[in-house]
Amino acid sequence: MTAAAPLRRPVAVRVATPRRYVMCRPDHFTVSYAINPWMDPAEPVDRPRALAQWEILRAVLEEHGHSVETVPGEPGLPDMVFAANSGIVIGGHALSARFAHPERAAEGPAFHRWFAARELRELAVATETNEGEGDFTFAGPRILAGSGYRCAVAAHAEVQRFFGLPVVSLELVDPRFYHLDTALMVLDDTTIAYYPPAFSPASRQALATLYPDAVRAEEGDALAFGLNGISDGQHVFLDPGATGLAAALRARGYLPVPVDMSELRKGGGGIKCCVLELHTRRDTTVS
Ligand code: ARG
Repeated sequence: MTAAAPLRRPVAVRVATPRRYVMCRPDHFTVSYAINPWMDPAEPVDRPRALAQWEILRAVLEEHGHSVETVPGEPGLPDMVFAANSGIVIGGHALSARFAHPERAAEGPAFHRWFAARELRELAVATETNEGEGDFTFAGPRILAGSGYRCAVAAHAEVQRFFGLPVVSLELVDPRFYHLDTALMVLDDTTIAYYPPAFSPASRQALATLYPDAVRAEEGDALAFGLNGISDGQHVFLDPGATGLAAALRARGYLPVPVDMSELRKGGGGIKCCVLELHTRRDTTVS
């Protein structure tokens, strides 16, 4: 009798969908204060290098069929480049941010003015402290939300009411992963990648139940900001240092696209931090 061939799961076919992104050029980027463990004002920032890396990210996203709109940065707001924090936009409904730290407070109204000049169905400013897509990620049937460093659970309740979508609260417990988007990335409506030790035991349990097939990242990939990536359903734009994660994604049928944002890392941000998505609500025909 011949031995049975080992069972192999067929590699899923992944499909990219064109996305609408918003970015803010790092014209005023620097590190003049420290509000997360990655920031060290004593370490010099090479702004031309930051600009070059940012331009490459924008070009790569466009080359992959996505549109990128830009918000002008403002002097004195060095973290404005991290546009993911500007708010949450789903199906034409937008909630603009209210920042936790006074250093970033003026970014809220600056981004809000940009939202207000667009044709949106609804626009409001968050009442609770809310750092937009830094702590909230739209995951198809639900929104996943981080708490612990920047957003409180009260902000999660506000987002649930505003968008009428269930919000799953997840508690972050490692200060290096101070925003949800540093520890968890949505790959498509049913799949995520995340670094379990960044979450409390109860949140780990919740994620394991909701996403039994999730890609679990190793510490090295998480520290390389591999989870601070963007997926269009097929291509996953991620840090070149996250090699283990890239291999795991390839094995699942995704196409990793490395983009180096090491200069922006001095501010504690990566690819995803630099990009806000204007989401289409996929459970309705509303765009
Ligand atoms: N220096 C910024 C801060 O600490 C970085 C924000 C990064 N953004 C993000 N979506 N994780 O607020």
